[in-house]
Amino acid sequence: MRPTISKLIAAGLLSMPISACRGGPSELPPIVPIRNMHRQEKYRPQDSSQYFQDGRSMRPIPAHTISREQGGVDPEVESGLQPGTRNYVERIPQAAIANLRHRTNDGRWVEGMEGAVARGRERFNIYCTPCHGTVGDGQGIVYLRSRISGYQYPQPSSLHDDRIRHTPDGQLYATIRNGIRNMPGYAAQIPTYDRWAIVAYVRALQLSQANAGANP
Ligand code: HEC
Repeated sequence: MRPTISKLIAAGLLSMPISACRGGPSELPPIVPIRNMHRQEKYRPQDSSQYFQDGRSMRPIPAHTISREQGGVDPEVESGLQPGTRNYVERIPQAAIANLRHRTNDGRWVEGMEGAVARGRERFNIYCTPCHGTVGDGQGIVYLRSRISGYQYPQPSSLHDDRIRHTPDGQLYATIRNGIRNMPGYAAQIPTYDRWAIVAYVRALQLSQANAGANP
């Protein structure tokens, strides 16, 4: 049976949307048939606003506002630096340890250095193991899988490196807070005291692995 003209036209029309999706770059906004919340009225940073008298969409912070993160935190604890210098603090400040505790599975609270290490272990296993691995040897899943996929994620440092074992505590803290070379900073995800908890745990981890051959 010969195809009728109308069937040919229908086939042509049908193939148009398919061929239109063949992925050429375009300056035009994407076609989204059901928009739901894709487009909505909102302000972007630095937008102007007709609503506020000063014409700014970004509202000024009320005078004397302190962020929860900064409120009352000792500058030494926040920066990891000795006051008024660019030198790292050698040891985890007491003020940080005093603010750390951990609730065990049986509902007990552990405080002091023990609490800091326990809290740090939990936080380390959440935030650091993907790259540095559970024992901190730099063989985390992100790194290992990147090697399988052919994308070479930079080798995360082994935390059992002699140099890293001997850095001041404040420098480890600052690495978590600010990042270093290829490693991003974790200040946004990990609050101040928890960063010190992780430092405490990394120290414990280093001691535990000191004779385990993890240090190449
Ligand atoms: C997204 C992956 C990733 C995560 C997550 C990560 N790191 Fe790293 N880290 C790296 C990489 C990569 C390097 C090596 C950076 C380089 O040399 O360019 C590194 C380096 C380091 C170093 C070596 C610093 C030095 O002095 O050379 C330390 C210490 C460290 N990380 C600690 C941590 C701790 C603690 C955490 C958890 C809070 C963490 N990292 C989370 C990827 C990561």
